[in-house]
Amino acid sequence: MTGVSKIVVIGAGNIGGTLAQRLAEADLAREVVLIDIVEGLPQGKALDIQESAPILGFSTKVSGSTHLEALAGADIVVETAGLARKPGMSRSDLLEKNAAIIRGHALAVRQHAPHAVVVVVTNPVDVMTFHFRDVCGFPASRVFGESGTLDTARFRTFVAMELGVAARDVTGFVLGTHGDTMVPLLSLTNVSGVPLTQLVPSARLAEIVERTKKGGGEIVELLKMGSAFYAPSASQAELVAAIVRDERRLLPVTAHLDGEFGLKGVCVGVPVVLGREGVVKVVEVPLAPVERAAFDASVAAVRADLAILAQLARPA
Ligand code: NAI
Ligand code: 2OP
Repeated sequence: MTGVSKIVVIGAGNIGGTLAQRLAEADLAREVVLIDIVEGLPQGKALDIQESAPILGFSTKVSGSTHLEALAGADIVVETAGLARKPGMSRSDLLEKNAAIIRGHALAVRQHAPHAVVVVVTNPVDVMTFHFRDVCGFPASRVFGESGTLDTARFRTFVAMELGVAARDVTGFVLGTHGDTMVPLLSLTNVSGVPLTQLVPSARLAEIVERTKKGGGEIVELLKMGSAFYAPSASQAELVAAIVRDERRLLPVTAHLDGEFGLKGVCVGVPVVLGREGVVKVVEVPLAPVERAAFDASVAAVRADLAILAQLARPA
């Protein structure tokens, strides 16, 4: 099945390469294009993926380019390009460098793919999603970030490991920022309909929540070089499939808020309905008082980063 004509993945690193492979194997588009600044990298990964088609049987054409003109006519763009924080680099250094990369790409998407739905992955994802949308000027529905499905997948995995049940039977939401202040919603997590709070003692639940919050760091510590990319790319592929097939999935994404949850002018993880046009609507799920307080703290952390971004944009 070929759902849309063209999906472009910007950044052919660990995430970009793995995501392109997942998208091709799912046959979601006629064409998947990888773009990177490193000559040979997107072309090499694209050819490698393409050479798996005879074995795996997909029809998607996969190509690579170092030119942003390859965005032309994209239906969906996934932004994964950027730098990871290195020793000695401050948070505002990383913000500044990645914001500059995002800015160039947002302008190129506006020029070459004005009708695209954009999924932002680059960290810090809440701020980069806000920045991408601010620069390209697209409707809020067409630019959102990925992290909630990843953080929720980690939470579901740890709950499944604790209970010895199938991970797919655990459902729930992790909201807020993609960072230490993310908010796993215990009140809305269940295992095939059974509330999680009836299955796991609260002290143990607190440990699972803590492990979820540090889920990205746990992988970084194990890998020693680079960060997670298998679960992240699976999360991004899930979002792309929901768009391509107009599935109307109810999933947590980093969405631009315009009054929902009583908030404006910020991008943060919330449940949305996702379809062909992107975010169809933000779903204002009920939060327990303690969850609402944690969510507000999470939003405050994103706003602090947005203030750094605004400061960087101001002329010296
Ligand atoms: P990576 O370092 O393997 O790949 C990044 C790629 O971006 C490199 O190939 C690099 O050449 C490319 N790049 C840098 N500047 C560019 C530019 N101006 N134009 C085009 N390409 C450019 O990193 P990885 O593991 O693929 O992660 C990518 C981003 O995703 C990072 O910011 C990471 O923190 C973030 N991430 C976000 C997650 C989320 O849930 N939102 C989960 C995991 C990673
Ligand atoms: C993760 O959570 C680093 O954002 C990345 O794995």
